[in-house]
Amino acid sequence: MDERIEDPNIILGDDEERLRPRYLKEYIGQRDVKDNLKVFIEASKMRNEPLDHVLLYGPPGLGKTTLAYIIANELGRNIKTASGPSIEKSGDLAAILSSLEEGDVLFIDEIHRMPRFIEEILYPAMEDFSLDIVIGSDGSSRSIKIDLPPFTLVGATTRAGDLSSPLRDRFGIISKLDYYSINDLCTIVKRTASVFDIEIDDDAAYEIAKRSRGTPRIANRLLKRVRDFALVEGTGKIDLEITESSLRKLKVDSEGLDVTDHNLLKSIIYKFNGGPVGIDALASSIGEEVTTIEDVYEPYLLQNGYLKRTSRGRVVTEKAYKQLGIDFQKNLFDEE
Ligand SMILES: Nc1ncnc2c1ncn2[C@@H]1O[C@H](COP(=O)(O)OP(=O)(O)OP(=O)(O)O)[C@@H](O)[C@H]1O
Ligand SMILES: [Mg+2]
Repeated sequence: MDERIEDPNIILGDDEERLRPRYLKEYIGQRDVKDNLKVFIEASKMRNEPLDHVLLYGPPGLGKTTLAYIIANELGRNIKTASGPSIEKSGDLAAILSSLEEGDVLFIDEIHRMPRFIEEILYPAMEDFSLDIVIGSDGSSRSIKIDLPPFTLVGATTRAGDLSSPLRDRFGIISKLDYYSINDLCTIVKRTASVFDIEIDDDAAYEIAKRSRGTPRIANRLLKRVRDFALVEGTGKIDLEITESSLRKLKVDSEGLDVTDHNLLKSIIYKFNGGPVGIDALASSIGEEVTTIEDVYEPYLLQNGYLKRTSRGRVVTEKAYKQLGIDFQKNLFDEE
């Protein structure tokens, strides 16, 4: 059993829970982040002081929540969790902070979505471990200061840029998670397969890794779906053939782009003549939220050269036309 104190508000599926690496040595990839954290955790233990506050940022599904739990485990401390949007009143945060015990890790997910006036309560808490609260109303209100036990705040965000600079400055450790290499994802796929007792060939694992958009969460999801096809339509064992046919049915292309990626790129090509197009127009043309495009879809497409951001908007690249099998007609107006 897991001896960590779990937040009852976060109910992880059984699968998810079994898959989460618990310690740094099980956490695959992200070498630099891991190596540095290891030193900082070790040093804080040697000094018998709480670890400095940690900010983890990067696209969804890369392992920020997993890493927050690992930090608590490595420190041998309890973790309490909250999420930015669920902290609506200053009292919510005050209640969380005053429930902390010495050395606790407080994990705040989506920390960029915390209202600014609540953020300000965090400043003295992070800096001096003190909580300033105002009691009473208007005329008779006064502020009292409560000492908090030393703790470590771990914040996670998909958008470091949305954090106010006073908040960002109060994190002593800032770690950026990057998309995983195919080899690291391949190791993750094999690890997941062994946790679930799935038999998988090396070339099949590699193919799933290659088509997972650099993201462990996607790799695990694809593996589970391919397993279903292998069970129902094959022999139960995952080989390259069943992998390729399953991924075709799941509409995941040879480079891992999925239906939404295709819609997004095609929409720019057909409705906006390849771009440039503003994010709002693009979002409404494919019926997605602007933030979903910015946080989930775009980063991968930008990083891998399918999409370019110019001062006038998003432009589809020649590489994207090729991947979609659409003729690339160079439009001189679109050159930035
Ligand atoms: N380095 C890793 N090694 C092995 N498995 C990993 C790793 N990173 C993530 N995973 C797996 O990927 C899944 C997604 O990770 P996690 O939930 O931590 O992502 P996240 O960054 O918090 O995503 P979000 O931004 O959506 O909250 C988890 O099931 C976890 O088991
Ligand atoms: Mg998370």
